[in-house]
Amino acid sequence: VGHTVGIDIGGTKIAAGVVGPGGEILGETRRHTPATDPGAIADAVVDAIAELAAAHRIGPVGVAAAGFVDAARSTVVFAPNLAWRDEPLAEHLRARLRERSGGPLGDGTVVVENDANAAAWGEYRFGGGLDASGAGVDDLLMLTLGTGLGGGIVSGGRLQRGASGAAAEVGHARAVPDGLPCGCGNTGCWEQYVSGNSLVRRGKELLRSGSAAGAALLDSAGGDPEKVDGPTITRLAQAGDAGCVELLADLGRWLGEACATFTAVLDPEVIVVGGGVCAAGDLLLEPARERFAATLSGRTHRDAPPLRVAQRGGEAGMIGAADLARRA
Ligand code: BGC
Ligand code: NA
Ligand code: ZN
Repeated sequence: VGHTVGIDIGGTKIAAGVVGPGGEILGETRRHTPATDPGAIADAVVDAIAELAAAHRIGPVGVAAAGFVDAARSTVVFAPNLAWRDEPLAEHLRARLRERSGGPLGDGTVVVENDANAAAWGEYRFGGGLDASGAGVDDLLMLTLGTGLGGGIVSGGRLQRGASGAAAEVGHARAVPDGLPCGCGNTGCWEQYVSGNSLVRRGKELLRSGSAAGAALLDSAGGDPEKVDGPTITRLAQAGDAGCVELLADLGRWLGEACATFTAVLDPEVIVVGGGVCAAGDLLLEPARERFAATLSGRTHRDAPPLRVAQRGGEAGMIGAADLARRA
């Protein structure tokens, strides 16, 4: 039998890895996501698998996709930030893997799961689903802050997929009535206030306002507000720049509000935060914890669950998708 492959297709990049049964990564490669062309996305995925297949025998393939995935775990019904609309992703990948010129790749198993669901599963099995003593946690909420805001729920040790597969689309729950327009077609979605993209949007706003607080950031962006990115904000904040510290704190406070709202529904034992922005660590999570504790309903009679950075970082989705494919 071949090794299991995990693929994480996000709004900007595709991460592909050969993943062992203990969640260990045996080989990894990346591609840029061709965001506007589903065929090009499938080609990029197969290209990444072919690269991995040069060094490893390939078995089942698990795909974490940034969108609403159907109950059969094969079609991406809708992706707010990518071009997928009723995209039969598993079928397209299976066909391409079969028809490789050098011979078929994999064993024909392709399982598609929502990216944040896969990350929740990856953390539950191999990361932040463990408490401080290393014991398992059975009720976990995963939030991924990247292009969008993803959610994944493990409850009673089971990944919750809902009736149609679209459970835990927390990024498109409404935070602000008549708020900012969202890629999903609605307005005021949490994703517009709690995500890597929202951090960048606020960074640009700060620079356009001409405020002195954005001077260092504007400098790093070569004087062009449009060139601001999340990693730069985080790096400057870590170096002590007050404007960037405040940008992350503001995002953190929104994150704390979101955690309070979702905890009212789910009552998780732990909330795990993933995605690129979590590299900011406590610069993001301390303001989030404070706001969370200050806004949780029933707070005078209960504690807010701990808020933790994903232990498997940016790899959680890939690892979780691989494990789900292995079990299929
Ligand atoms: C999508 C989710 C996805 C999340 C993170 C959201 O905009 O609706 O399906 O999990 O972004 O990628
Ligand atoms: Na989800
Ligand atoms: Zn939305």
